[in-house]
Amino acid sequence: MTENLDKFIAALAESLKNESFVKLTLGNYKGPDEHLQKILVRPVSTKKGQRLYFLYRGATRDTAKNYDLDTGIALIGDALDNGFRSGHLFTTENDYQLEVGKKGKSRLNVGKPTFTAAPAAAHNREKKEQIDPNSFYLRSLGITDDNGRIRDREQHKWKQINKFVEVLASLVDKSELRDRTNLRVIDMGSGKGYLTFAAYDYFKNTRNVDIQLTGVDTKRDLVDLGNGVAAAAGFDGLKFELGSIADYDVGEVDILIALHACNTATDDAIFKGITAKADLIVAAPCCHQEIRPQIKSPEMLRDILKHGVMLERTAETLTDGIRSLLLERSGYSTKLFEFVGIEHTPKNNMLVGTRLKTPTHPEQSQRQISEIKQMYGIEQQHLERLLANRSQMNTHKKST
Ligand SMILES: C[S@@+](CC[C@H](N)C(=O)[O-])C[C@H]1O[C@@H](n2cnc3c(N)ncnc32)[C@H](O)[C@@H]1O
Repeated sequence: MTENLDKFIAALAESLKNESFVKLTLGNYKGPDEHLQKILVRPVSTKKGQRLYFLYRGATRDTAKNYDLDTGIALIGDALDNGFRSGHLFTTENDYQLEVGKKGKSRLNVGKPTFTAAPAAAHNREKKEQIDPNSFYLRSLGITDDNGRIRDREQHKWKQINKFVEVLASLVDKSELRDRTNLRVIDMGSGKGYLTFAAYDYFKNTRNVDIQLTGVDTKRDLVDLGNGVAAAAGFDGLKFELGSIADYDVGEVDILIALHACNTATDDAIFKGITAKADLIVAAPCCHQEIRPQIKSPEMLRDILKHGVMLERTAETLTDGIRSLLLERSGYSTKLFEFVGIEHTPKNNMLVGTRLKTPTHPEQSQRQISEIKQMYGIEQQHLERLLANRSQMNTHKKST
């Protein structure tokens, strides 16, 4: 046994050294932990350099951890000595299969490689897909099947989840939050929580950030589902609360997320973020219903905006444009972009506000808002009204 185990571990160490390592699986567990079933290991590139990502798969919950290479190799050796009867190492040079029998007997088979992709390609893939498709929560939320395969009907959602995490990671890296080891995040209108879970998983398990993330939604069944899956996954810092965005007491928050919260719920969420002085506000608006009925077409655009589709797009542009100017007026720099291709979801615009240390030109933003409203005959916009009410209340407090 020792000789074959030593050979297996030596092959693992060599594959990490010459970068031919693809992945490793430990299975057929007969040890004392009644929940543990498998360990899946793959390489990840982190800020701290090359690491090994261990996914401990259990009957009802998965946990994950990153280790440096030496610690990871030692842990794999220990695991094969203490309960795992099978180890499968995939490298681009060979596949190694170690079977551990009773009474210390073992067999090591070396075969042709299943994967011939260079490790560099694996790294690239790693970059694109930050989320492990084997994650327990993806299975529980119905994105993957029992084999970790993305269900056909969930391919678009999967694309969106990965893109969202990639975008969020890059926004954090470009903000004051870059080097923070702890983060408080609120997800307004979290729904079934796909994006909430993925964001938590990424910051907690890939970046080792101590994250406290709360999803808020008006639907009790979704809140209960989210809390059940979070508990089963061992995601201690993730919880879901029943509540409406407008009434929710945000407290102190670093990142406020609102993805596809309908109509003016997006305004309520952005308002909460501004009031709480969140460093990052990340919104994907949808159902722009407030502005469209108010638009009085400027004479020059009359024969363009008589077409429903053009009026619809103009209403969207004006709504998100005014929101972005209001964020700028409130001391944020903004970005508006398509965060995932239109073929994956039509609700794909993302509006991001990053809090500035020193706000710039609020009067210029206000002038533009007033001119746009006047040009299109817009009477009111929900976020603007919320901000105006707050400023009136502040003035009233000061004068009494
Ligand atoms: C289209 S789903 C989006 C879910 C998730 N954010 C996503 O992008 O996958 C919108 C969710 O927002 C919730 N929602 C809408 N208005 C809300 C409000 N005012 N307060 C809290 N939740 C709200 C709905 O119940 C629903 O679950």
